[in-house]
Formats: sequence, structure tokens, C-alpha cells
Amino acid sequence: MKLAIGILVLVFVAMQFIRPEKIEYEKNSISELQAPENIKEILVKACYDCHSNQINYPWYSNIAPFSWVVINHTKEGVRALNFSQWENYNYVEKQAKLKAIYRSVYSAMPLPAYTLVHIEADITKEEREMVRKWTGVRVP
Ligand code: HEC
Repeated sequence: MKLAIGILVLVFVAMQFIRPEKIEYEKNSISELQAPENIKEILVKACYDCHSNQINYPWYSNIAPFSWVVINHTKEGVRALNFSQWENYNYVEKQAKLKAIYRSVYSAMPLPAYTLVHIEADITKEEREMVRKWTGVRVP
């Protein structure tokens, strides 16, 4: 029993040495998305923690294995869509991303694993509808 606990502790300690890199915080980005204030508010509240260079990493993002999950989400999220780099997308890319936002904001986004912990980011149906309207995407 003692040995088992000892091994577990060792594994836990060893895990702490695997530290994926976090997305660097950028206070002001000249390429940041410009949107009406009410829309921006929703996006900041519900999306910026994975889709911007202004990520508020929680304390457990310093502890493996949680750090691996959180940092991986932010890395993949930023790769798919980065509101801090919005103006660097060309017209076609912006349209594609607006469409993807339209598609995802009703169910897939924000990630359920995220809203489970960040209750405040679980935006309402009305807020989701507002974001959808803002994308300007027309459904046939
Ligand atoms: C906890 C992290 C997290 C939050 C919060 C989050 N996302 Fe994501 N998002 C991801 C990850 C990870 C991916 C890439 C993997 C994938 O496509 O499932 C992604 C992908 C996307 C994509 C690309 C999907 C595609 O089909 O190309 C869009 C659009 C998107 N998110 C929109 C949003 C919007 C809008 C919000 C806020 C309402 C949001 N996300 C909140 C993690 C997050």
C-alpha cells in the first residue's frame, strides 16, 4: 500500500515536469476584432479564453494533468479562430470564420467542458442569437 502511494506521488511529481507552453498574453492588439459593444462583451465573456491572445488561465492550469487539457484547448482554439488577430484574416477567411461561428455558437461553443467550470460563460439563448445575427450569415 505504502509503495503504491509512493509510486502515485512520484508519477504525479514527474507529470509536473511536462509543461506545455501557454499562449502569450497581449494587452492591446491592433488586429483585434471590432464589433458592437454588446457583441464584444459576449465574445469576451464566452470565447476569449480560447480564441484570443487575452486568455485568463485558471490556477489549475499550472497543475498537470489539468494544465495539459486547458493549454491544449487554448492552443487548438486559437489556431482555429483568434479574435486578437481578426484583421489579419483576409476576406474569404473572415467569411468562413463567421460561418463557423454561426454554426458553432448554438451548441458546440463555448466548449461544454469549459462552461462546466465557468458558469458565467454559459451564455443565454438570446445572447447566442445576438452573435448569430451579428455574423450576418444568411441561411437558405
Ligand atoms: C474552452 C475553450 C473554448 C471556448 C471557451 C470556446 N472555444 Fe471555440 N474552439 C475551441 C477549440 C479547442 C476549437 C478547435 C477544435 C474544434 O474545432 O473542435 C474551437 C473551434 C472553434 C471554431 C472553429 C470550428 C470550425 O468548424 O472551424 C469556432 C468558429 C469557434 N470555436 C467559436 C467559438 C465561439 C463563438 C466561442 C464563444 C461563444 C467559443 N468558440 C468558445 C475551444 C473553445
